Parts: sequence; C-alpha cells; structure tokens
Amino acid sequence: MISENLPFTSPLVLAPIAGYTDYPFRLLCKEQGAGLVYTELISAEALCRNSKKTYKLTKIYHDETPAAVQLFGSSPDRMAEAAEIVCKMLPKPALIDINSGCCARKICNNNSGAALMKDPDLVFNIISQIKSVSDVPVTLKIRLGFTQNTKNYALIIEKAALAGASAVTIHGRTSDQQYSGEADWIEIEKAAELSPIPVIGNGDITSYKQAIEKLETTSCSGIMIARGAIGNPWIFSNHEPSDNERFETAARHARMMFDYYGDHGIIMARKHMVKYFHHKKNSSQLRHKLVTAKTLDELMEILNP
Ligand SMILES: Cc1cc2nc3c(=O)[nH]c(=O)nc-3n(C[C@H](O)[C@H](O)[C@H](O)COP(=O)(O)O)c2cc1C
Repeated sequence: MISENLPFTSPLVLAPIAGYTDYPFRLLCKEQGAGLVYTELISAEALCRNSKKTYKLTKIYHDETPAAVQLFGSSPDRMAEAAEIVCKMLPKPALIDINSGCCARKICNNNSGAALMKDPDLVFNIISQIKSVSDVPVTLKIRLGFTQNTKNYALIIEKAALAGASAVTIHGRTSDQQYSGEADWIEIEKAAELSPIPVIGNGDITSYKQAIEKLETTSCSGIMIARGAIGNPWIFSNHEPSDNERFETAARHARMMFDYYGDHGIIMARKHMVKYFHHKKNSSQLRHKLVTAKTLDELMEILNP
C-alpha cells in the first residue's frame, strides 16, 4: 500500500492506455505484479447515455482487482453522474481517476483531457462533485501543463488536494509536446516534493530497474508505466522472459482476446502481438505474419512453432 487511502498492492502501476488496457491485458499485467491497473479513458457522457460498448470498457472483473476506472469529460454534473454509475458496478473500482492529461485533439476540443488544465477551478469542481457522490478514492492524472509556457501543475495539484483528491499522477510532458522529447523527471520530482498528496510519476519508463530507480531517487509514491508494458507485462516483475515464455504469453494473450471479443479480438490482438517480438533479432517475418493473421488458429500456428 503506497498510502492509507490508496489500495495499491505494489507501487508500480499499469497506466490507462486507450485501445490497450482492456481486461485481457490488465489481467496479464496484474499477474506479473502490477499494483493497480486502469481502464482506458471512459467517456462520462457515453456512460450516462447508457452506451453498452462503454459499459464493457468500464467493467472490472474480480481476478484483476484492485483496478481503477478512468473518466473523462468537462461537466462536473455529468462526471458525477458517471461516477455514481461506476460506484454501483460490481466489483467496485478501487478508485476513480479523472483524465486531465489526454492530448488528443478530439478530447481537448471538448474542453476535456489535458484542456482541463487551462481551468484549475473546473478541475476543483469536477473533483469536488465526484467526491460528493462516490465512496471510493478519487485521483487525477495530469501533464506538466497545457503548453510549455503554461506549466501550472503546482496550482492544479493544490486545487486537487483541496477538493479531496487522494493522489495525482503526473506525466512529465506538456500537452503541446504530445509524446515528443523526453519526460522531464526533474519537474516530476518538483511536483512530488511540493504536493500535499501522493504523486505517481509517469513517463518513458522502459524497464523494472528504471522504475525502481525512480521510486528510490524521487519523492514519488508510485510509478506508472504505459508504453513500456505493451508486449512486456514482465516489466512489473523484474523477470526476463525466455523466448519460449514470450511465445507462450503472446499465445495466451491472443486466446484471451478471442474469448473476450470473439473473432474481432484477433484483429485487436495484432498490435499487442508485434510488441512481444519487437526486440527479437531477425523477427520481421514473424511480425509480418502476426499482423496479417485473421483467425485464432492461424495465430496459434505462428505462435506454436
Ligand atoms: C496509445 C496511447 C493511449 C493512451 N491512452 C490514455 C488514456 O486512455 N488515458 C490516459 O490518462 N492516458 C493515456 N495515455 C497516456 C499514458 O497513460 C501515459 O501517460 C503516457 O504514454 C506516458 O507514459 P509512458 O512513457 O510510460 O508511455 C495513452 C498513451 C498512448 C501511447
């Protein structure tokens, strides 16, 4: 547990990643020791409108708990309404996280995601309203600021703490940087030092060793990993998998995707499959076969050579 209010089982957590952090992938990361796993960003509006597809994205299963649901939106009322729906789902999420870091244009143009950082009072209101209806901890995920000239993470963290947030995750880039350059861990450390609530640091962690090094050398209470976990759930366990293990886990992952989504799961599994063999020498032919496989049988044949 990284703090009394936060139910993490280890300080290394799997980030919310749209299109990736579904139940199969969350479960694999959980099995390797991820201390908390997150759904991808969930539209509060769609949840309030009873969208079946959104409900499936939001659902958490017993064997992956503790797991968090991440909501995005810009209306405090609608965000609170969505939080109420989420709190009634079983199993209940370990916490509700608010997305204030997504840099995608279609999200920011609706004043959601990282655009929330332009309005610290709105962030305060969203957290306050969600807090008033939910019986699980509420956290916030931010960037350093909306632009490189408006790095206002200190003010946002202050507002979040005042509104009752239990922790803040900070990705060490500004929204206008998107994913360019390097995550600024000096700024992350400044945020962790000044914050009255626990800070989870995020950005460019690609190995277990690096994650532990950040945990030991910064004031962060936890470390969040996104891209470094794709095709590499072992990042949470300090285990270097053998080639056989990679093939076995990729095959299991594909089967889980098929069981969860049906035939379409095979198409959705492709982007995960190539990442399992990303660093393997002379694997371009293998990766080409993996991204063109159309059925589970085809994939199993490739993965069980
Ligand atoms: C494809 C993709 C989808 C993402 N989706 C989300 C999301 O749904 N919610 C969120 O808060 N961040 C999202 N992120 C940002 C990550 O959670 C994380 O903050 C960022 O990738 C930096 O961490 P990393 O260097 O470990 O990848 C996404 C990132 C990527 C690359």
